Amino acid sequence: MRILIIHGPNLNLLGKREADVYGTKTLDEINKLLKQLAKKLKVELDIRQSNHEGEIVDLIQNSKKYAALVINPAAYTHTSIAIRDAIAAVEIPTVEVHLSNIHKREEFRHKSLIAPVSHGQISGFGYESYLLGLRAAVSIAENIVEN
Ligand code: DQA
Repeated sequence: MRILIIHGPNLNLLGKREADVYGTKTLDEINKLLKQLAKKLKVELDIRQSNHEGEIVDLIQNSKKYAALVINPAAYTHTSIAIRDAIAAVEIPTVEVHLSNIHKREEFRHKSLIAPVSHGQISGFGYESYLLGLRAAVSIAENIVEN
């Protein structure tokens, strides 16, 4: 089973970026933890980061070979109809993740355009959100296989 992880814009700056909100772990450190967990769960991972909306749309359009998608769309969560439509088009089981609890922050972050096309959303557990997201994605994909 292969899972795709997509990190959206500015997440390449993790560790240096608003550490009080997003934590001190770098993206490389988070990716290492994801790979460790993937090994334990016996799944393969591909991990991508992009600051560009169109590039994220391309990644999603080409994601048909994956059993599930874990995505932190970052700021595009709140603005991108294109990313939402791409997820709806490929019908890949999707878990939306956020490091911070977007519902506890500024009002403009409360709305996710991605949530209605996702299986579910994990928000507010720091880097653990990604690990929980990967576990959720594997569970969803396994159920789909069994069904
Ligand atoms: C974020 C929350 C978004 O509102 C923000 O624009 C981000 C990161 C998070 O992981 O908490 O860049 O997706």
